[in-house]
Amino acid sequence: MTVTIVGSQLGDEGKGALVDLWGGDADIVVRYQGGDNAGHTVVEDGEEYKLSLVPSGAVRDKVGVLGNGCVINPRTLFSEIDDLRERGLDPDVRLAKRAHVIMPYHRRLDNIEEEAKADSDLTVGTTGRGIGPTYEDKAGRRGIRVGDLLDPDVLRQRLEYVVPQKKALIEDVYGLEAGEECDVEALVEEFTEIGRRLREDDMAVNCGDFLAERREAGDNVMFEGAQGTLIDIDHGSYPYVTSSNPTAGGAATGTGVGPTVVGQGEVVGIVKAYLSRVGEGPMPTELKDDDREEELADFIREKGGEFGTVTGRPRRIGWLDMPMLRHAARVSGFTGIAVNHLDVLAGLDEVKVGHAYELEGDERLTMPATTERWGECEPVLKGFDTWPEVDWAAVTEEGYEAIPDAAQDYLEYLSDEIDVPIYAVGVGPGREQTVHIENPFDD
Ligand code: IMP
Repeated sequence: MTVTIVGSQLGDEGKGALVDLWGGDADIVVRYQGGDNAGHTVVEDGEEYKLSLVPSGAVRDKVGVLGNGCVINPRTLFSEIDDLRERGLDPDVRLAKRAHVIMPYHRRLDNIEEEAKADSDLTVGTTGRGIGPTYEDKAGRRGIRVGDLLDPDVLRQRLEYVVPQKKALIEDVYGLEAGEECDVEALVEEFTEIGRRLREDDMAVNCGDFLAERREAGDNVMFEGAQGTLIDIDHGSYPYVTSSNPTAGGAATGTGVGPTVVGQGEVVGIVKAYLSRVGEGPMPTELKDDDREEELADFIREKGGEFGTVTGRPRRIGWLDMPMLRHAARVSGFTGIAVNHLDVLAGLDEVKVGHAYELEGDERLTMPATTERWGECEPVLKGFDTWPEVDWAAVTEEGYEAIPDAAQDYLEYLSDEIDVPIYAVGVGPGREQTVHIENPFDD
């Protein structure tokens, strides 16, 4: 049995709480894309763990795998693993030998390029973790893979080829001075040592084979998507995207299991009851048109804790966008959804969703394929009856029927529009603040 968790909006939908909750029934939790640009907080036995790379299941004695579709910064990885060990845990983390490694020059180039684009429409607002430059090298066939770290001769050969190119880019194109990040000897030394540790701890695996064996033995697998559909490199708002595929197809290419395996399991879209966005790009339902909207956005931002986990940046806020959700449901083939942060909308004077877009006099139910056209879309808003603040802890205990009627109408509208059931409703930040409807691991 597999369950794939996908962000259906712009990232930060609260996927971590559901991965946490349902991950209890998984034996293995696998990330299939992205790197330390993600961020989640796991609370276990009253202890809080902030992780950006280690799959959250590793905190709960599950095997955590970083698939071949991931880009891995070993410094972040080992600092998170060491931190967990210091706190008394023994995380079992495996890395795909085919995954690419974020090198220090990737991080430097990410920041240099963002700086060069600053003050133009091209700024992406990346997390500065070197994600884009690492995937560029992967596609350019000049990347360093986890498997290369295990073989010092191969590592040296690859670095001797690629580092002079990076140095020339930094110095000749950007007119800056290259530093330690382009010192081949220092890189060989540091990354050979990392390879030694990977070997000693038996962490590097052939991901596809590893998962096939474990599935054969009856293990349940959860594929944990990071980021979200609208920052998918293919299906998102290009170029304001991350450089990987958070959508469900990525779970196959990013781990080495067949798409039929992913498709025979459940694919659950995680939906925030409103919209938030870090970074640049269009957002037709953004609340920013007048003082009232800005006040409402400030209120939701504070109440929902909408500040970047990795960067601390305040997130932009808007109403839930249905054309975006219809797009996400189709791209990933959702079999169910979980709706988070329903409590944040409680007690407001108005609750709306962007039901459709208006573009050149036409009403459309899905998103245009180019970001420029998307930026021209005006939302066609639909209002809902509001619901009051209630005792959400009691609601969690009593179940779905205890959710205020108006909020149930809101949820049922979402579910009907994309024609999939709701498996859970988040009514607070902790995983225990979730109203359970169905566990996707149950037959
Ligand atoms: P990158 O992934 O650092 O290259 O950033 C590319 C875009 O994706 C930027 O707009 C980031 O703000 C956004 N992004 C990357 N990771 C996350 C995430 O985990 N949540 C929300 N946005 C993200």
